[in-house]
Amino acid sequence: MYNMTEMKEYIRQIIAYQPEIGLVLGSGLGGYGEKLEKPQFIEYRDIPDFPVSKVQGHKNRFILGTLFGKKIIAMQGRFHYYEGIEQHMLALPVRIMKEAGVKTIILTNAAGGLNPTFTPGDLMLITDHINFSGSTPLRGENDEKIGPRFPDMTEVYSKQYIERIQCIAKEKGIKLKSGVYVMNTGPAYETPAEVRMFQILGGDAVGMSTVPEATAARHCGIKVIGVSCITNMAAGILDQPLCHEEVMETAEKVKKDFERLVDIMIQE
Ligand code: 6GU
Repeated sequence: MYNMTEMKEYIRQIIAYQPEIGLVLGSGLGGYGEKLEKPQFIEYRDIPDFPVSKVQGHKNRFILGTLFGKKIIAMQGRFHYYEGIEQHMLALPVRIMKEAGVKTIILTNAAGGLNPTFTPGDLMLITDHINFSGSTPLRGENDEKIGPRFPDMTEVYSKQYIERIQCIAKEKGIKLKSGVYVMNTGPAYETPAEVRMFQILGGDAVGMSTVPEATAARHCGIKVIGVSCITNMAAGILDQPLCHEEVMETAEKVKKDFERLVDIMIQE
């Protein structure tokens, strides 16, 4: 576990910057971080107790910088529960952002499509989630200074933002789906039977991240926007096996649309 009071000493630079928007960049989507102007980099390894991700395509650093005149803190590389990192550690970057003054967090990920009307390359605005990971970052002692013991989860993903972004995407001709994100622990992709189960449960996309950060953000009162890049269909929907290379390839292909969408989110 970490102590936020002790942590402050090591994240002074972040706190002093006073970013207003947090941006978590998922697999294959880290390139957006390069768009930030006047960037300052903070390597995760320079923060004591901070985890480091070994997943291909993750750079393991915070970037402080501006875009559209707004001060942003981006995570180029996030951590995953399947890496063996406890979920309360996944809440740490979110709590650091809160400490620094972040009001809104944009969470991005690569996910498999469950909804048969989706196609690889689609972008899906997350309207709600199902936590199928079997844990939560809030498990254990609660610090009332951070948030309540039993936080309300009625509106994890801000309805106001969802409606606004859908409206603007439509105006600008950006194809945007919406739906429920299921977090499965991974690292193995789902079996076809599990995929059918998640469809019956009401899921539209399945991935291995985002839910812990969204939960931690809700807990400490940060507004959340989530977007999934549907890099492939989940197992058994199309007649082909899945691989991480395909995930990275599709993420690269939709980079332009993805960047336009995140641009809108930040501008708004
Ligand atoms: Cl099909 N499943 C999960 N759990 N994560 C993914 C995925 C599928 N495709 C990209 N990420």
